[in-house]
Amino acid sequence: MTQRFNEAAQAWDSGDVRQNIARAVFNTLVSRIALLNTMKILDFGAGTGLLSFKIAPMVRSVTGVDLSSGMLEQLEAKNTPSLRVEALLQDIMEKPLEKKFNGIVSSMAMHHVEDTARLFEVFYAHLNRDGFIAMADLDEEDGTFHSHGNEGVHHFGFNRDILRDTIEKAGFKNVRFHDAYSVDREEGKYPIFLVTAMK
Ligand SMILES: C[S@@+](CC[C@H](N)C(=O)[O-])C[C@H]1O[C@@H](n2cnc3c(N)ncnc32)[C@H](O)[C@@H]1O
Repeated sequence: MTQRFNEAAQAWDSGDVRQNIARAVFNTLVSRIALLNTMKILDFGAGTGLLSFKIAPMVRSVTGVDLSSGMLEQLEAKNTPSLRVEALLQDIMEKPLEKKFNGIVSSMAMHHVEDTARLFEVFYAHLNRDGFIAMADLDEEDGTFHSHGNEGVHHFGFNRDILRDTIEKAGFKNVRFHDAYSVDREEGKYPIFLVTAMK
């Protein structure tokens, strides 16, 4: 999976679809969560930073964590003296970070992680008291979303009821699903949700 993202990194931002998803996820997120200039935010699976750089001007700091050095190189290239996202190449499932955050956001990365239950336990451990999560991903799909094939795709989207249960079992409260976007192609529609919850 990491190799594929390294190869895709340079052209990642060039199509409209990923830009549109990131914009819609950001708009949905800010309509549901009050981002404050005191907040430290973690973007899980930040990739090239499409979501991170939208959030960065509104908060104290954004750390983008990812497994792909190629994606993070693209993210780092967007840093300027006035707007910065910290890039971190680390598997937080294996090696947790030493700091905690006020919020964890993510767009389209969750379906690449096999053990969703453990992922939310790891998120819980990385949050300050009253911290939030805001995670966007696909609703259940038939495996046709990734036109390049499904290597590294562990979930063909998510069933909202099952995911709610998983998130609650990790200890989160106020789990809410919001319709964020829909990728509409000739062969079908691929709705994307944003799920928010509080520690
Ligand atoms: C589909 S891309 C999305 C990138 C970005 N969030 C966006 O919306 O453009 C998924 C990203 O998640 C990263 N990823 C997958 N598993 C991960 C893990 N366990 N920890 C951190 N990043 C991971 C991949 O390397 C990739 O950059």
